[in-house]
Amino acid sequence: MANDASVVSDTLSPAVSKGSLADLFTPPADSTLWRKNFLLGAATASYQIEGAVNEDGRLPSIWDTFSATPGKVLAGDTGAVACDHYHRWEADVEMLVSLGLEGYRLSIAWPRVMDAAGVPNRKGLDFYKRLLNRLKEKGVTTFATLYHWDLPQHLEDRGGWLNRETAYRFADYADLMSRELAGTVDAWATLNEPWCSAYLGYGNGHHAPGLADDRFATQAMHHLLLAHGLAVPVLRANDPASQKGIVANIGRGTPNSDSAADQRAAHLFEVQHNAWILDPLLKGSYPQDLFELWPGTEPLVLDGDMQTISAPLDFLGINYYFRTNVASDGAHGFRDVPLEGVERTQMGWEVYPDGLRDLLTGFKKTYHNLPPIYITENGMASDDQVTDGHVEDTQRISFLKRHLAAVDQAIKAGVDIRGYFLWSLMDNFEWAFGYERRFGVVHVDYSTQKRTIKRSAEWVAKFLKERKARA
Ligand code: FCB
Repeated sequence: MANDASVVSDTLSPAVSKGSLADLFTPPADSTLWRKNFLLGAATASYQIEGAVNEDGRLPSIWDTFSATPGKVLAGDTGAVACDHYHRWEADVEMLVSLGLEGYRLSIAWPRVMDAAGVPNRKGLDFYKRLLNRLKEKGVTTFATLYHWDLPQHLEDRGGWLNRETAYRFADYADLMSRELAGTVDAWATLNEPWCSAYLGYGNGHHAPGLADDRFATQAMHHLLLAHGLAVPVLRANDPASQKGIVANIGRGTPNSDSAADQRAAHLFEVQHNAWILDPLLKGSYPQDLFELWPGTEPLVLDGDMQTISAPLDFLGINYYFRTNVASDGAHGFRDVPLEGVERTQMGWEVYPDGLRDLLTGFKKTYHNLPPIYITENGMASDDQVTDGHVEDTQRISFLKRHLAAVDQAIKAGVDIRGYFLWSLMDNFEWAFGYERRFGVVHVDYSTQKRTIKRSAEWVAKFLKERKARA
């Protein structure tokens, strides 16, 4: 594997070196993306790549339980083996480095590093120490997410994110990790996409733990955000040199017509997807429109919680994928009205780069204290096949180029955006969609674990090499 990857930066495929695909990507000369201090990296998450779920004292997570439940994940796939990254991490780091990627966003599996009594698991901790040390030795900027959805099952057994106690256990976990890993992490993100944890996990049940009640979703969200707020000062105390932030997925909602009802529906869509998370973090309050959408779902908030949640951040991570066209549902809410004839990905998601630019410039107006931003995920799934040792993922090259151009436009409009992590370094376990949906810039053959660099990765490597040469 290391061999497959290490040749990449020196021996680009004929298609890329001749310029055809490279031209598709190369940003214009006046693009801010040429700036050397704009960080370009790739992201992954523990449960999606590590495998080794029973090794070295790792405890079960809610995703082990959920994926083992018939009917929850496409084709009955689980993360038991995934990309076997737990054993192949050295070659995977080599691969990342050979592509010239400057940043790596990974996540730590909570059930690997401490037990139900809070006792550290040395073997699990050592895995992350080795990995992060190696990344630092190689000069890679490291972003570590503490919670990318793999809640220890023993905590779910006591109510999971519906139980306020889980927020305090998260702060203990953040304490352990920042004491153990201080100096190897450049930026800590407390949570990945609390919207997905709260809404997909507790609101509609599409994700682990699979509960479905709007009241659960708002209460789970409150405890997730509280966990974040409790962890930030702990991270600051233990690892003052690093940056502290959180990662939110954001969604663009556009109205299906000019009618006031449809405009209102699009507004409510964005309240539900964006303001539900960003208002508490950046304004210290929940948007009241959320409770128009979901009447009677106000969470139980104790004195001081909103101050804890809205403590200043060093950065905000933004994950963006697509837009949703919506109309009024005739009552208090919205319904999706899929547009015909638009470009879509293997997920069925619409390719809509302007949504990223418009949301970012909109946040700058709405939130006067908007912290510096990193795009912590952006990418697309395609049904990629290896042919003669290559993967021609042309749509992905074009997708990345267009979204990076949207980032450039937002920067030029005054938004402070410091970097971009593509999702994902390699194909992996795509949650409820299992292994069918391929988001990587590196292809993974799950029967052999062979990694094959896709054209998109060659393209990113070429750009990074050129940028370095110009600096
Ligand atoms: C995001 C998740 C990430 C990945 C992408 C496609 O919501 O954070 O793990 O699954 O979607």
